[in-house]
Amino acid sequence: MKLIAPSILSADASRLGEEILAVEQAGADWIHIDVMDGTFVPNITMGPAVISSLRKVTKLPFDVHLMIADPDRYIESFFKAGADVITVHVEASTHLHRTIELIKSFGVKAGVSLNPATSLDQIAEIIHYIDLLLIMTVNPGFGGQQFIGTSLSKIARAKRMLEAMPHQPLLEVDGGANLKNIGDIAQAGADVIVAGAAVFNAEDYQKTIAALKTAANSLIA
Ligand code: DX5
Ligand code: ZN
Repeated sequence: MKLIAPSILSADASRLGEEILAVEQAGADWIHIDVMDGTFVPNITMGPAVISSLRKVTKLPFDVHLMIADPDRYIESFFKAGADVITVHVEASTHLHRTIELIKSFGVKAGVSLNPATSLDQIAEIIHYIDLLLIMTVNPGFGGQQFIGTSLSKIARAKRMLEAMPHQPLLEVDGGANLKNIGDIAQAGADVIVAGAAVFNAEDYQKTIAALKTAANSLIA
């Protein structure tokens, strides 16, 4: 089963707790939390204090996507705040192996993410150590952007790389997923699909998440 991870970047920020509860009741599998620092990406969102408050609302896994420069400085804070998955960008970490080992030392899943313009070659040496690869299918910084179409082939190539690994890391796809393209994203090999605007801009979260799951799981044999 493909997992759906609503990104709270597109939720009503004045009611984040209620919004998380609503998507949990609507069938969300993970909660995707976008952390932006205004340096690595041209936007600023939330930090460990907000995540720690939200941790009281749900038991769903918190999938924390760090779009921050030099992430090592804050890994422990995000772990203590309640992250279950911590993903860093290859473009943001100088000593990526050290960063990944630091994340794993806290007993949580360690992910690496690639911007749309970053080649899969960049993970050749770190793939052995990661629990999850996150492929960005928009340029990070904002919700509600359009899926970059050429990413489908990158997702498929990433899936082949991950499948060849004995520890089978998960493949997550983030950016521009919607009811129309989620079938293709799933077919290309995504295990976890982030959906921000597609969920939180919808009238009915339950119907929308159910439809996303149906489309993601109805693969052509
Ligand atoms: C973009 C974020 C994404 C974004 C996804 O920088 O990493 O998680 O919120 O939102 P949609 O699904 O609206 O593209
Ligand atoms: Zn994200």
